[in-house]
This record gives sequence, C-alpha cells and structure tokens, in this order.
Amino acid sequence: MRESLVRKSDVSASTPIIAVTQAGLPEVLAGLGEAAASWCEVHDFTGKASTHQLVPGLNGEGAAVLFGVEESGLSHPFALGGLAKSLPAGDYSLADDFPDQEQAALGFALSAYRFERYVTPSGKSRRLAVSDDVDLGRIGVILDGVQLARDLINTPANDMGPEDLARAIEELFAANGGTGRVVVGKDLLTENFPMVHAVGRASSRAPRLADYTWGEEDAPKVTLVGKGVIFDTGGLNLKPGSSMALMKKDMGGAANVLGLASMIMAAKLPVRLRVIVPCVENAVSGNSFRPGDILQSRKGLSVEIGNTDAEGRLVLGDALALADEESPELLVDMATLTGAARVALGPDLPPFYTDDEELAEDIAVMAEAATDPLWRMPLWQPYMKYLDSKIADINHINTTGAGFAGSVTAALFLSRFVENAQSWVHFDIFGWTPAEKPGKPSGGEAQGIRCLFDLISDRFANK
Ligand code: BES
Ligand code: MN
Ligand code: ZN
Repeated sequence: MRESLVRKSDVSASTPIIAVTQAGLPEVLAGLGEAAASWCEVHDFTGKASTHQLVPGLNGEGAAVLFGVEESGLSHPFALGGLAKSLPAGDYSLADDFPDQEQAALGFALSAYRFERYVTPSGKSRRLAVSDDVDLGRIGVILDGVQLARDLINTPANDMGPEDLARAIEELFAANGGTGRVVVGKDLLTENFPMVHAVGRASSRAPRLADYTWGEEDAPKVTLVGKGVIFDTGGLNLKPGSSMALMKKDMGGAANVLGLASMIMAAKLPVRLRVIVPCVENAVSGNSFRPGDILQSRKGLSVEIGNTDAEGRLVLGDALALADEESPELLVDMATLTGAARVALGPDLPPFYTDDEELAEDIAVMAEAATDPLWRMPLWQPYMKYLDSKIADINHINTTGAGFAGSVTAALFLSRFVENAQSWVHFDIFGWTPAEKPGKPSGGEAQGIRCLFDLISDRFANK
C-alpha cells in the first residue's frame, strides 16, 4: 500500500492523471489533441464524476488519464481508489492542479491493498506520484496501521491462533521499544482472569492475555483493549455454518487496536500507550463453558451465562477491569461484538458508545473529516434491567428473550467493568468489507482507527 505512493520528484516518467469536470472536458480535450478527443468520443467518456479514461498519445502509448470530478472537487474523498485496481501497471502522477491531493492519494493507496500471504504477487503494480508538498510521512503511518489490521484479520485461524495473535502484539511493541507480558493458560486463573480462561479453555490452543505498554510512564495514559477471539464457533451454542463462515474475523477488534497502536508509536505521540488483548478461541470440547454456568470475573461480579456465543463481552469484561485499575485518561475498546450492530447500521458504519459528551462530539466530527464513518449509539440505562439475573450479580445477555437492542445491551454489560477511566468509549465494529468500495477492498477492514489516530493526536498534542 505504502509502496503505491511516491513523490513526484522521485519519478522520471509517469502518465499524468488530469481532473476533468463534465463542463470542462471539451477544453481539456482541445489541449490534448484530436486523437484524445475522438478516443473519448468512441469510448463514450463524458467526464462524469469518478469515471476515468486512458487516452492515447501520438505514439499509441497512454498519454494521460482523464478522471471525472465535480466542480467542487472529488465526488468521494477516496474516489481515486477505483484507479488503483483498474489502471494498467505503471507509474502515474497527479496533475499539479488535481484537487484534494492528500485524500486522493490516501484513497488510491487504501484501495491498492492486497492480502498476499498465500499467493505469489503478480509483480505488476501501479504507483501514484503526488505533489511534493503532500505529507507522505503521515499517510505512510496511517497506511501501515491499516495494513497491519487488514493482514491480521485476513489471516485464517489456522495460522492466527491465540499464540500467533499474542506474538503479533509482542513483535509490534518490541519493534517500537515497548514491553509487556502474556499470561497463558492456567496462569489466567492464578492472575485472576477467570472469564478469559473460561471462554478459551476448550481450545487445544491455550487462551492468553497480552498486556503491553509503550511511552513515558508519566505521559497521559491511553489504553486500548481489543477483542481477540481468533475464531468464534459459538461454543456449545454452536453457530450454524453460514454464521460461522467469516468468524476468523472475530479478532478484528484486536487487529484494529494494533493498527492504531502502530500509528501512535510510529508517530511517537506523547502518550503512555497500553494495549490489552485477550487472545482466545471460542471452541467446542468436553471442557467448554456452558449455558447456565456462573462465572466469576476479575471485577468481582458473578456472571450468569445465557449463551456461549456471547463470548466477546466476557473476555473483554476481564480485560477492561484490568485496564480500568490504573484509571487511564482514555480507555478505548474495539470488538466485533454483536451481529445486532450490523443489523442496526450495516457493515460500513460501526456504532460507538460513550458517556463522555465532548469525546462523542469530537469522534463524530473527526470520523466525518477522516472519511472513517462512525455513529453514536446510546448507553441507555433503562435497558440495564435486561441483564438482571436471579442467581448471579449480572447476566451477560438479554434473557428476556425478545432480542431487543443487542448491541446496546452488550455495551451496557461492558460498562459494568469500567469505573475509574476518565473517558471510556466502546466500538462495536464489523471489521470486514463484504463488497469492494472506494478505499475499501473486500475483506478484513480497519474501522474507526484513522479517526481515533486523529483524535488522540489532537487531544494529547504536546502543549
Ligand atoms: N462475534 C459475534 C458477533 C458477530 C457476528 C459480529 C456476526 C459480526 C458478525 C459474537 O461473539 C456473537 O456471536 N454475538 C451474538 C450474541 C448473542 C448470542 C447474544 C450475536 O450477535 O448473535
Ligand atoms: Mn460469539
Ligand atoms: Zn464473537
């Protein structure tokens, strides 16, 4: 992805990409010559927004790419993404007066992503040269984070077990000078992470909890918690095949917080970063936890199990309780937590939950600015009663059976494990793009972390 962008001064020859509006097309064609004009006519190219046309030069080579924009600029910030997959391999450059160069470059690179772990790369690539005043350093930091998140999600569970996920965290922090530890297997019990152990113990691949920090000890504490369920069969409440098919992505929350951590560390933001990820497989075995079980939790609440497929909130409950113990300035968790979030808002608009009004406002504004859509949903207290249990402190699912407000009640459950953090925000992400769109190739997806990178950069800027 990062390799798909270069500075203009670094390429000797490239095909220019010229922005055209429908009204302005004739004038541009007049400048390019008759061959280009008749070529556009034959191909019915009218300059419509987000369409493009490669036009030949006199020697039959591609002389220019015409790209349709609105009078006001790009019709979608990532509109240029389409070119990253459809132009012939080669070097291209944005014409000097091309609008919104930074967004255009980002959209192009985000779309250029391919998951290449199991295939031989074709070797053919497209590079985009952008004006030398575009901040490629910042874009590179963002692209590396997004790439990490996507690669981790796309890697199937046979190669992404609890140990592999924990190792990815260790490697990221080691590369940046951070340190931490991983609590594995039975140690989860002695170290008081009973719900992480209960959810993960049925897998032949031992459950674990990764806990890493980076940065100055006295800097503001920003803690990221991610759901790291490397595969979700549903447990004894087994998912039907169609619902299980995509469940390698159930560590999408962990993948996203790692992508965000990578951006924070690469940009050397002045924060004390902590990442906590419970890494487990929700598997079926003779020692699986069961519906009706009552689990103890790190927080001290007893939790009645209504459905073993609501495993994410359990492992997050213990991880959030740990995070909360040192009262971080900002506590963020990300999780592919509920199917209900997707029912409510679809795959491309993750809901977020917080009681911090100012934070909610900032997220909404920055999500829009970063083209990283997010939508606030409420921690609506009256629904807390859905989680009442007669025989434990709390039930982890809505047992009234009606299936109401599934994403809200999951968020409310998590809120019971957070008390001391100055601000807490929870993201119920989908972590996957089902069908390609601008800036979003199909497959594992980074959601919310470009927005959060801007937010954390802004909030904790050196002042
Ligand atoms: N990982 C799933 C949620 C999920 C499903 C996210 C599909 C994205 C797409 C989670 O562990 C789960 O199974 N949740 C259940 C909860 C229910 C049993 C209360 C759900 O959403 O159906
Ligand atoms: Mn589940
Ligand atoms: Zn799950």
